[in-house]
Amino acid sequence: MKILSFELKNFRNCISVNKSLVADKTLIIGKNGQGKTNILEALYFLSALKSPRTSNIKEFINFNEQSFQIKADIIKNDVVSTLEVNYVLGESKKLSVNGIKVSAKEFRGFLKTVLFSSNDLMLLRGSPQDRRDWLDRAIVQIYPAYDERLTKYERIRLQKNRLLKEEFIDRELLNVYNEQLAISGANIIHIRKKYLNEISKIASKKHSAISSSEILTIDYNYSGENVETILESLKSELQQRQAEEMARKQSCVGPHRDDILFYINSNDASKYASQGQQRTLILALKLAELDMLQDKTGEPPVLLLDDVLAELDDLRQNFLLKSINSDIQTILTSVDTLLFDEVFLSKVDLLRVQDGAIIEK
Ligand SMILES: Nc1ncnc2c1ncn2[C@@H]1O[C@H](COP(=O)(O)OP(=O)(O)O)[C@@H](O)[C@H]1O
Ligand SMILES: [Mg+2]
Repeated sequence: MKILSFELKNFRNCISVNKSLVADKTLIIGKNGQGKTNILEALYFLSALKSPRTSNIKEFINFNEQSFQIKADIIKNDVVSTLEVNYVLGESKKLSVNGIKVSAKEFRGFLKTVLFSSNDLMLLRGSPQDRRDWLDRAIVQIYPAYDERLTKYERIRLQKNRLLKEEFIDRELLNVYNEQLAISGANIIHIRKKYLNEISKIASKKHSAISSSEILTIDYNYSGENVETILESLKSELQQRQAEEMARKQSCVGPHRDDILFYINSNDASKYASQGQQRTLILALKLAELDMLQDKTGEPPVLLLDDVLAELDDLRQNFLLKSINSDIQTILTSVDTLLFDEVFLSKVDLLRVQDGAIIEK
């Protein structure tokens, strides 16, 4: 899968960017604050309809404008398609493929990408929410319908929270919400565990290759073998902790409270891993995400690397660059070209970004 060209209009500081991607590797160079991340964010949004930076689509609109547009021609299984996102302030976003209006569900996952940014390197030190967001975004790329399940769960949870804040709580209604939450929640937990189970096998192999045989394990902190056992334990936990939920006026049980745990040689990596070990872990994880997506869809996704090379030492840089073999289209950003060797630079298409515009090399 490849992005052949893209066009941004009034997307953050990119007023008008129009670019054909001629090489498999594109390197975007620019000083801080010029718009490198904005370009990758737009391309990622085109694939996931999400951004790791915000959940508020309004923030994408250029400060002086009322709308934005992202458009790209992509090639997938030898077929070229035009994807387009249009958003006008106060309206709902309009999505189209080849000029035909489609739903978010149909649109999402048309273009598959893996985004690896320097923020990801902080995943272990971040909050459980950060780790759940990473996991959910990764799953959505493989299984686009998962996003609707998350939305549904979230909707019931908010209804339940509203109920818990009322002075007199309708117990019968609370039971109805709990029943719905348990079913919807068990589904989410089950999918998350299945994904983690698969990715952890691939990530461990990569991890031991980079780290000379340290052992990586990944765990989800809600146990249960299958969706039925998860459902049963969610139901009984919701029952057991009902008084607590009523006292705290919020829902305390379910996948919105869960976390993903990483261990290196059986030690909790968020507590004990050095900075270098953490970077190895995240690198292995991201490359595993890429492998898994390629495996499931039969085509390599587009890899978006935002400022990560600068954060890795030579050993890890080399591992990363070697892993992205030539048929994976990769768009990288960096402050300068110093980090890259001549051989690599001779193969890339070099773009310079200044003030939200691509200028001549
Ligand atoms: N909605 C917006 N309208 C206009 N400019 C924006 C908007 N959102 C962010 N910016 C600008 O984009 C710039 C940051 O771009 P970014 O892509 O993160 O930079 P970098 O090149 O360092 O990755 C900042 O100057 C910021 O003010
Ligand atoms: Mg940036």
